[in-house]
Formats: sequence, structure tokens, C-alpha cells
Amino acid sequence: MKLAPSLLSADFSDLKNQVKIVEEAGAAYLHLDVMDGKFVPNITFGPLVIKALRPHSNMIFDAHLMIDEPERYIPQFADAGADIISFHAEATSHIDRCIQMIHEKGKKAALVLNPATPLCMISHVLESLDMVLLMSVNPGFGGQAYIESVTQKIRDLRQMVGKDFDIEVDGGIGPNNLAKVLEAGANVIVAGSAVFGQRDIRAAALEMQRIGEEYESHYHC
Ligand code: DX5
Ligand code: ZN
Repeated sequence: MKLAPSLLSADFSDLKNQVKIVEEAGAAYLHLDVMDGKFVPNITFGPLVIKALRPHSNMIFDAHLMIDEPERYIPQFADAGADIISFHAEATSHIDRCIQMIHEKGKKAALVLNPATPLCMISHVLESLDMVLLMSVNPGFGGQAYIESVTQKIRDLRQMVGKDFDIEVDGGIGPNNLAKVLEAGANVIVAGSAVFGQRDIRAAALEMQRIGEEYESHYHC
């Protein structure tokens, strides 16, 4: 399991230090929620913030673009230092073009599906994707409840892509339901309120990873 703490729940007046805490706790990815106030009813940050954080971390920067027509901004996010660029199938008429643009910048491309968007959206681009991100809440805000129907969707996707493909799941995941999400077949786990939203961020990140390791050792037996 790769843990991807979401910066959305961090203390925005102390980003550099907060990022350091999750990195030292062993989190592999830093999940960066970019919102445009149009595709989703909320606005967060753009490439400048990512660029500012880049020199302070060796984590994999996982930029989740919740913006309309992501093709307008993909180069900026690549140049800002994102390693993975995830964009929504619902936000563009040019899914294949977006993937190509991301790869031309030497970055990894992921397609994101909202909870109600069917898995068949990925069928014709699966070969060129590096990851699929399934939303387990409606995008826009941290701290929402996990949508239960997504568990079966994760299972179906795992069956579709085989065992070595990265499936990221985002929204409403914490210590109480992490094992269920892993069991369904996810291997990259976004956690906002369950990590940065906790008083002791380090302890929260370590606890999520402990649950992940416990699940893995059980699974491999
Ligand atoms: C929601 C974002 C998520 C969010 C998850 O639109 O994409 O990444 O930060 O937050 P939690 O883990 O609190 O649901
Ligand atoms: Zn996200």
C-alpha cells in the first residue's frame, strides 16, 4: 500500500513543515487537490504552491486536477513538479489527448472517475494509463463519508486491470475502513482528514501505514 496524504486537510499556514511530517512518517505520495471553483464548488491552489513545495520534499507529487478542461493547464502542473497528473474523465472531451500531453512531459497519467461514472470510460485508454483513481466521495471537499457502492467498483476495476496496476481511491478513508478498501483491490490510498486533519499527523500517518502493512502480511500468507 502506498499512502497519499491529501494536503487539502493540512494547515495552510504551515505547509512546508506539515509535508515534512508525513514524509518522515514514510508516506510515499503527497496528494495535491487542485480545484477550480467550476468543475467542483471549491477553490484550492494551483501550480505555484506545488512549485514552492517541490524543493522541500522527495515524495511523489500526486496532483489531482479537479478542473474543467485540464488540457489548458497540464503543462503548468508538469513544470511545477507534479510526478503524477490525474484528471477527471467528466472534465474533458479529450481524454486521450490529455494522457498524451502528460506523457510528453515525462509524467505519469491517471484518469479519475467520479462515484457515478462507469468503469467503461477507461476501456479504450487503459493501455496508456499509469493509474486509475476512483473517487469514493463526490469531489470538492475533504471530510465526507465514504460511498459504499465504490467498494464493488474497486473490485470490478481490479478484475479488469489485473494485479500489477495502480488503483488509487480517494475520499472518506480512515483507520476504520482502510482494510475494506485494500481488500477490494486498491493499493494507493488517499487520506485527508485521517492524516493531516488529525492533531498528531505523524501518529495518524503511521497508524494508516500499520494497518496497510498488517493487511499485506495477512494477504501474502
Ligand atoms: C476530495 C479530494 C480528496 C480529499 C479527501 O475532493 O479529492 O483528496 O482531500 O479528503 P478525506 O480523506 O478527508 O475524504
Ligand atoms: Zn483528491
